[in-house]
Amino acid sequence: MVDSLSSMNIETIILTGDRPTGRLHLGHYVGSLKRRVELQNSGQFDAINILIADDQALTDNADNPAKIRDNIVNVALDYLSSGLDPEKSTICIQSHLPALHALTFYYMNLVTTARLSRNPTVKAEMQMRGFADEGLPAGFFCYPVSQAADITAFDATVVPVGEDQLPMIEQTREIVEKFNRTYGETLVMPKAMIPENETQRRLPGVDGKAKMSKSLGNCIYLSDDSKTVKKQVNGKMFTDPQHLRIEDPGHIEGNVVFTYLDAFSTDDHFREFLPQYANLDEMKEHYQRGGLGDGTCKKFLIQVLEETLSPIRAERAKWEADLDAVYDILQAGTAKAQAITNATLARVEKAMRIDYFADRRIVKEWEKQLKAAKL
Ligand code: TRP
Repeated sequence: MVDSLSSMNIETIILTGDRPTGRLHLGHYVGSLKRRVELQNSGQFDAINILIADDQALTDNADNPAKIRDNIVNVALDYLSSGLDPEKSTICIQSHLPALHALTFYYMNLVTTARLSRNPTVKAEMQMRGFADEGLPAGFFCYPVSQAADITAFDATVVPVGEDQLPMIEQTREIVEKFNRTYGETLVMPKAMIPENETQRRLPGVDGKAKMSKSLGNCIYLSDDSKTVKKQVNGKMFTDPQHLRIEDPGHIEGNVVFTYLDAFSTDDHFREFLPQYANLDEMKEHYQRGGLGDGTCKKFLIQVLEETLSPIRAERAKWEADLDAVYDILQAGTAKAQAITNATLARVEKAMRIDYFADRRIVKEWEKQLKAAKL
């Protein structure tokens, strides 16, 4: 059994994705987008697939498909302007990969409702959406199974995701194990790849709340203009409430300005904008000693964010002026992904022996079976 899998010649294949429920923000950027672009440009992977998970987004937005439809282009624009290159990465739309639906349906038989109920990410999301009281859509409850279909359909070996997605990968691994045990070695076992450090894992909102969220108004979006970025930093960003006078010693922990500097600033930024410090450590020391004002820190952060965002903004403007090109990229990416995922579905149906129309061999089997019944 193991042999048949190794003869499949395992490659390093990436699959990851996002729900198109809104524009992507700095949290997405440090937590995943930037990494994807680095992985893409490392040349170390045989294939990189990025899924715009509109079906998954519909599992809790069934009453508002227009929102998902509108945000497909936003997410695509955020991808392209951050450096995902359609020549190197396949960007595709989940709903137009019918093999994923079929795989989901087969995998559902390999998971118990009890197991799905224990998924901590789904539990937390259910709570947030009030599904416990209002009734839980079956599609939402089962979305981890559909995510297993996404991952396995591309034969992904590596799934770069945020920490909150670890239960999905765990569930996928269980499905792969169960499938291969039941039907023979067929599916590739994937591994999660999570961000290296704490700041990448969870960039807080500008107000210091644990997560950036649209409803809290504490996001900085990749597509925000300079004025908005400035307003969010100067007007809303949380520093050290005990740091009342410049001379007072300041605290770094829980100080959002420094959390963002951890995530975005480089020594080059210091050379360019704040040459009195060689690096962030020196700046932090000064802040902790006392004598460094929040205004100076925020001004520097705004410059750092501008350096990061202005090339992204410029790229976005170009793509926005050519939405036909974006359409073509999504269409071509989806067509390519259809071929990949259809091939996996064929392999799965063959393993399950439900590949009835692959050839006419089943007619011979029927004849034999009928003859045996007559004996
Ligand atoms: N669940 C992911 C999110 O909420 C999106 C997603 C869908 C995904 N399918 C995927 C991520 C497959 C990784 C692999 O962000």
